[in-house]
Amino acid sequence: MSDRGNRVCPVERAGSLDNRIRRWFQNPQKILRPYIKEGMTVLEVGCGPGFFSVDMALMAGKSGQVIACDMQEGMLEKVRDKINGTELEARIKLHKCEENKIGVSNHVDFVLLFYVVHEIPNKEGLFNEIWSILRPKGQVLIVEPPFHVSKSAFEETIKKARSVGFVDTNGPNMLFHKTVILKKG
Ligand SMILES: C[S@@+](CC[C@H](N)C(=O)[O-])C[C@H]1O[C@@H](n2cnc3c(N)ncnc32)[C@H](O)[C@@H]1O
Repeated sequence: MSDRGNRVCPVERAGSLDNRIRRWFQNPQKILRPYIKEGMTVLEVGCGPGFFSVDMALMAGKSGQVIACDMQEGMLEKVRDKINGTELEARIKLHKCEENKIGVSNHVDFVLLFYVVHEIPNKEGLFNEIWSILRPKGQVLIVEPPFHVSKSAFEETIKKARSVGFVDTNGPNMLFHKTVILKKG
Protein backbone atom coordinates (compact mmCIF):
# COMPACT_ATOMS: atom_id res chain seq x y z
CA MET A 1 0.00 0.00 0.00
CA SER A 2 1.22 3.52 -0.69
CA ASP A 3 2.29 5.90 2.06
CA ARG A 4 -1.10 7.61 1.62
CA GLY A 5 -2.30 4.47 3.36
CA ASN A 6 -3.13 5.56 6.87
CA ARG A 7 -3.57 9.30 6.45
CA VAL A 8 -6.70 10.33 8.31
CA CYS A 9 -9.54 11.77 6.23
CA PRO A 10 -9.85 15.45 7.20
CA VAL A 11 -13.10 16.99 8.44
CA GLU A 12 -13.06 19.32 5.40
CA ARG A 13 -13.79 16.25 3.26
CA ALA A 14 -16.92 15.34 5.21
CA GLY A 15 -19.15 16.68 2.41
CA SER A 16 -17.76 14.16 -0.06
CA LEU A 17 -18.77 11.35 2.33
CA ASP A 18 -22.31 12.50 2.98
CA ASN A 19 -24.32 13.45 -0.08
CA ARG A 20 -27.11 12.26 -2.38
CA ILE A 21 -24.80 11.02 -5.11
CA ARG A 22 -23.12 8.63 -2.68
CA ARG A 23 -26.55 7.45 -1.56
CA TRP A 24 -27.30 6.37 -5.16
CA PHE A 25 -24.26 4.17 -5.28
CA GLN A 26 -24.08 3.13 -1.63
CA ASN A 27 -27.53 2.96 -0.10
CA PRO A 28 -26.78 2.29 3.60
CA GLN A 29 -30.00 0.34 4.17
CA LYS A 30 -29.39 -1.92 1.15
CA ILE A 31 -25.81 -2.62 2.21
CA LEU A 32 -26.58 -3.19 5.90
CA ARG A 33 -29.99 -4.94 5.69
CA PRO A 34 -28.55 -8.48 6.02
CA TYR A 35 -26.67 -7.57 9.21
CA ILE A 36 -28.71 -5.13 11.32
CA LYS A 37 -31.99 -6.12 12.98
CA GLU A 38 -34.32 -4.24 15.26
CA GLY A 39 -33.15 -4.10 18.88
CA MET A 40 -29.47 -4.63 18.13
CA THR A 41 -26.62 -2.66 19.65
CA VAL A 42 -24.35 -1.67 16.78
CA LEU A 43 -21.03 0.13 16.60
CA GLU A 44 -19.56 2.20 13.80
CA VAL A 45 -15.85 2.88 14.15
CA GLY A 46 -14.75 5.92 12.13
CA CYS A 47 -18.30 7.14 11.56
CA GLY A 48 -17.18 10.38 9.88
CA PRO A 49 -20.18 12.67 9.29
CA GLY A 50 -22.61 9.80 9.97
CA PHE A 51 -23.62 8.74 6.46
CA PHE A 52 -24.13 5.19 7.80
CA SER A 53 -24.80 5.85 11.51
CA VAL A 54 -28.13 7.57 10.90
CA ASP A 55 -29.51 4.68 8.83
CA MET A 56 -28.05 2.20 11.31
CA ALA A 57 -30.16 3.89 13.99
CA LEU A 58 -33.29 3.70 11.83
CA MET A 59 -32.64 0.00 11.26
CA ALA A 60 -31.89 -0.81 14.92
CA GLY A 61 -35.17 0.86 15.81
CA LYS A 62 -36.43 2.36 19.04
CA SER A 63 -35.21 -0.58 21.10
CA GLY A 64 -31.76 -0.55 19.50
CA GLN A 65 -28.67 1.56 20.02
CA VAL A 66 -25.90 2.90 17.78
CA ILE A 67 -22.48 3.84 19.12
CA ALA A 68 -20.93 6.13 16.54
CA CYS A 69 -17.28 6.75 17.25
CA ASP A 70 -14.60 8.78 15.56
CA MET A 71 -11.23 10.14 16.64
CA GLN A 72 -12.05 13.59 15.21
CA GLU A 73 -14.40 15.73 17.26
CA GLY A 74 -15.21 17.70 14.07
CA MET A 75 -16.74 14.58 12.50
CA LEU A 76 -18.81 13.82 15.63
CA GLU A 77 -20.00 17.44 15.55
CA LYS A 78 -21.39 16.85 12.04
CA VAL A 79 -23.39 13.84 13.28
CA ARG A 80 -24.57 15.82 16.32
CA ASP A 81 -25.83 18.63 14.06
CA LYS A 82 -27.83 16.12 12.00
CA ILE A 83 -29.57 14.35 14.89
CA ASN A 84 -30.04 17.23 17.34
CA GLY A 85 -33.71 17.61 18.15
CA THR A 86 -34.72 14.41 16.35
CA GLU A 87 -35.79 11.09 17.86
CA LEU A 88 -32.46 9.63 16.76
CA GLU A 89 -30.65 11.70 19.37
CA ALA A 90 -31.62 9.14 22.00
CA ARG A 91 -30.59 6.21 19.84
CA ILE A 92 -27.13 7.35 18.72
CA LYS A 93 -24.42 7.63 21.33
CA LEU A 94 -21.49 9.70 20.05
CA HIS A 95 -18.12 8.65 21.32
CA LYS A 96 -14.70 10.17 20.71
CA CYS A 97 -12.11 7.45 20.47
CA GLU A 98 -8.32 7.54 20.41
CA GLU A 99 -6.26 6.63 17.35
CA ASN A 100 -5.39 3.26 18.88
CA LYS A 101 -8.23 2.71 21.30
CA ILE A 102 -11.94 2.57 20.64
CA GLY A 103 -12.64 2.66 24.37
CA VAL A 104 -16.19 1.28 24.24
CA SER A 105 -17.26 -1.27 26.87
CA ASN A 106 -20.83 -2.05 25.67
CA HIS A 107 -21.35 -5.47 24.15
CA VAL A 108 -22.31 -5.15 20.50
CA ASP A 109 -24.05 -7.30 17.86
CA PHE A 110 -22.55 -5.68 14.79
CA VAL A 111 -19.56 -3.49 13.96
CA LEU A 112 -19.17 -1.41 10.80
CA LEU A 113 -15.71 -0.41 9.60
CA PHE A 114 -16.37 1.47 6.35
CA TYR A 115 -13.39 3.12 4.61
CA VAL A 116 -11.52 3.28 7.89
CA VAL A 117 -9.33 0.23 8.55
CA HIS A 118 -6.54 1.53 6.28
CA GLU A 119 -6.44 4.71 8.41
CA ILE A 120 -5.89 2.77 11.66
CA PRO A 121 -2.21 2.06 12.41
CA ASN A 122 -2.61 -0.73 14.98
CA LYS A 123 -4.95 -3.20 13.31
CA GLU A 124 -4.25 -6.11 15.72
CA GLY A 125 -5.18 -3.78 18.59
CA LEU A 126 -8.37 -2.80 16.75
CA PHE A 127 -9.38 -6.43 16.18
CA ASN A 128 -8.53 -7.45 19.74
CA GLU A 129 -10.68 -4.68 21.11
CA ILE A 130 -13.59 -5.56 18.81
CA TRP A 131 -13.27 -9.22 19.79
CA SER A 132 -13.61 -8.29 23.47
CA ILE A 133 -16.93 -6.46 22.98
CA LEU A 134 -18.50 -8.45 20.12
CA ARG A 135 -21.27 -10.84 21.21
CA PRO A 136 -20.69 -14.53 20.31
CA LYS A 137 -22.93 -14.42 17.21
CA GLY A 138 -21.89 -10.89 16.28
CA GLN A 139 -20.56 -9.82 12.90
CA VAL A 140 -18.07 -7.24 11.68
CA LEU A 141 -18.31 -5.73 8.19
CA ILE A 142 -15.18 -4.21 6.69
CA VAL A 143 -15.39 -2.25 3.44
CA GLU A 144 -12.29 -0.70 1.91
CA PRO A 145 -12.14 1.59 -1.14
CA PRO A 146 -11.34 0.24 -4.63
CA PHE A 147 -8.00 1.78 -5.56
CA HIS A 148 -6.68 3.42 -2.42
CA VAL A 149 -6.25 0.07 -0.67
CA SER A 150 -4.43 -2.64 -2.62
CA LYS A 151 -5.47 -6.29 -2.73
CA SER A 152 -2.36 -7.27 -0.78
CA ALA A 153 -2.93 -4.63 1.91
CA PHE A 154 -6.49 -5.91 2.31
CA GLU A 155 -5.26 -9.51 2.57
CA GLU A 156 -2.78 -8.39 5.26
CA THR A 157 -5.67 -6.87 7.20
CA ILE A 158 -7.64 -10.12 6.98
CA LYS A 159 -4.59 -12.07 8.17
CA LYS A 160 -4.39 -9.81 11.22
CA ALA A 161 -8.08 -10.40 11.96
CA ARG A 162 -7.53 -14.17 11.68
CA SER A 163 -4.57 -13.98 14.06
CA VAL A 164 -6.95 -12.62 16.70
CA GLY A 165 -9.35 -15.55 16.12
CA PHE A 166 -11.84 -14.17 13.60
CA VAL A 167 -13.08 -16.27 10.71
CA ASP A 168 -13.88 -14.47 7.49
CA THR A 169 -16.49 -14.88 4.79
CA ASN A 170 -17.38 -12.82 1.74
CA GLY A 171 -18.89 -9.44 2.39
CA PRO A 172 -21.53 -7.84 0.15
CA ASN A 173 -20.76 -7.42 -3.54
CA MET A 174 -19.79 -3.80 -4.12
CA LEU A 175 -18.26 -2.89 -7.45
CA PHE A 176 -14.43 -2.72 -7.20
CA HIS A 177 -14.59 -2.53 -3.39
CA LYS A 178 -12.93 -4.90 -0.95
CA THR A 179 -15.39 -6.31 1.56
CA VAL A 180 -15.30 -9.00 4.22
CA ILE A 181 -17.43 -10.27 7.10
CA LEU A 182 -15.69 -11.36 10.28
CA LYS A 183 -17.24 -13.64 12.90
CA LYS A 184 -15.93 -15.23 16.05
CA GLY A 185 -14.43 -18.62 15.24
C1 LIG B 1 -12.80 8.03 5.04
S1 LIG B 1 -13.67 8.45 6.50
C2 LIG B 1 -15.05 7.33 6.42
C3 LIG B 1 -16.21 7.77 7.27
C4 LIG B 1 -17.42 6.84 7.24
N1 LIG B 1 -17.09 5.52 7.71
C5 LIG B 1 -18.03 6.78 5.89
O1 LIG B 1 -17.84 5.79 5.17
O2 LIG B 1 -18.70 7.76 5.52
C6 LIG B 1 -12.69 7.75 7.79
C7 LIG B 1 -13.10 8.21 9.17
O3 LIG B 1 -12.43 7.41 10.12
C8 LIG B 1 -11.94 8.23 11.16
N2 LIG B 1 -10.77 7.58 11.74
C9 LIG B 1 -9.54 7.45 11.20
N3 LIG B 1 -8.72 6.76 12.01
C10 LIG B 1 -9.47 6.45 13.10
C11 LIG B 1 -9.18 5.76 14.31
N4 LIG B 1 -7.97 5.27 14.56
N5 LIG B 1 -10.18 5.63 15.23
C12 LIG B 1 -11.41 6.15 14.95
N6 LIG B 1 -11.73 6.82 13.86
C13 LIG B 1 -10.77 6.97 12.93
C14 LIG B 1 -11.65 9.56 10.50
O4 LIG B 1 -11.65 10.59 11.44
C15 LIG B 1 -12.76 9.65 9.47
O5 LIG B 1 -13.88 10.30 10.01
